[in-house]
Amino acid sequence: MKVLYVTSEALPFMASGGLGDVAGSLPQALRKRLIGCRVVMPMYDTIKEELKSKMTFVTNISVPVAWRRQYCGIFQAKHEGVIYYLIDNQYYFKRDTIYGHYDDAERFTFFARAALEILPVVDFKPDIIHCNDWQTALTPVFYSTFYSKDPWYQGIKTVFTIHNIQYQGTYGMELVNDVIGLNPADTSIVEYDGDVNFMKGAIECSNKVTTVSPSYANEILDPWYSHGLDTILKERQWKLQGILNGIDIINYNPETDPNIAVNYTVKDVKKGKAECKKQLQENMGLPQREDVPIIGLVSRLVSHKGLDLIKGILDELLATTDVQVAIVGSGDWQYENFFKEMADKYPDKLAIRIGFVPSLARKIYAGADLFLMPSKSEPCGLSQMVALRYGTVPIVRETGGLRDSITDSGDGEGNGFTFKTYNAHDMLGAIRRSLDAYWNRDYWDTLVIRAMECDFSWGKSANEYIKMYKQVIKE
Ligand code: GLC
Repeated sequence: MKVLYVTSEALPFMASGGLGDVAGSLPQALRKRLIGCRVVMPMYDTIKEELKSKMTFVTNISVPVAWRRQYCGIFQAKHEGVIYYLIDNQYYFKRDTIYGHYDDAERFTFFARAALEILPVVDFKPDIIHCNDWQTALTPVFYSTFYSKDPWYQGIKTVFTIHNIQYQGTYGMELVNDVIGLNPADTSIVEYDGDVNFMKGAIECSNKVTTVSPSYANEILDPWYSHGLDTILKERQWKLQGILNGIDIINYNPETDPNIAVNYTVKDVKKGKAECKKQLQENMGLPQREDVPIIGLVSRLVSHKGLDLIKGILDELLATTDVQVAIVGSGDWQYENFFKEMADKYPDKLAIRIGFVPSLARKIYAGADLFLMPSKSEPCGLSQMVALRYGTVPIVRETGGLRDSITDSGDGEGNGFTFKTYNAHDMLGAIRRSLDAYWNRDYWDTLVIRAMECDFSWGKSANEYIKMYKQVIKE
């Protein structure tokens, strides 16, 4: 079986969030299971030189963008056995950030079309084209409207994965003629509520729609989560499925991670984490005490990550509790400011580093005792799985992938602490329960080991993808 994985980001070349992690490890996991998976992504100018220098130039073609054609260079790279095609066009991709430009619609329309146009040129005919999020959502639309009847392309199946339904690619209807270039009879495919909606087009045209956890697959049928797409998703529910992501357990491994004070395994986790805690406290400028629990937070500081809940109770928590809180992340100024104020008010208890600092994030995963992730919605979430791997116990809201990966340890079996309702004091209740557990030393040691022994490697998820691909091919 051959799969083309179409994505706007993939590690090690480029990542802005979880999609980059997934696209940097699922194809490798598929390949290990004998699926010939190749990846196609844009050739961003900001990809590191050392990675660029190892790429080879294949050839160049021209790709239609509505009524015009644009240059498309094809570069090839190999990473851990997987072949990557990088689509080059400096006008579209020589920018200092990968998203957030006035012409994103056009940039990713071009990319979505290029992903199909390059296939005969590189001589790779996949059984499945697997697209991800709105940036690649037009690939299945173009496939059904322009390519499916072409003898070379005939018989390919398309799969579309929603990593985050909040970003759909919605634009004015004028885009249809000037950028997308669909025949008038096909315009309705990408139309939703009077706008162009890329994601809706993919939901309509793909043979299968998946999302990154079973719970999120249910949640997005509900207007509270769907950002307007519940109607079309309910109509197409028969092709919707949730498959939980895995994490790259070689990259995230406390036994080998060079970013942390000492390496450790489940056998010497107590000693290892104590050293890592010391280093984290030193790095963050917190008092170096062994006898205080640390709650870590590694997150984009935006509302849907549940920051309002934290805002609601943090002062109360810090005023009444012997605890330290270590935060790394950036986002909305209101949250950044709030945390800075709290750090001024409680310098011995809270420290924040604004920015995306991967090496410090690793120190939090290793040095903290608890990991807070109270998201309002969370399609899958990877940080809670990484935290477990480092023996840090997650406190999460029961939503999406958090619900599918973390269960409350109140029953003596779970791997974390959970709360249901999006309510600050329900979260505080879960935090207090976790701190009580922390002080019950025998219980805590067992819980940490249970957390570390959870298996969220790609194996299980990759097998589910393969099963799904096989079903789609058979249909
Ligand atoms: C998005 C989601 C996150 C998920 C990731 C990878 O970033 O917000 O929950 O883990 O995609 O699928």
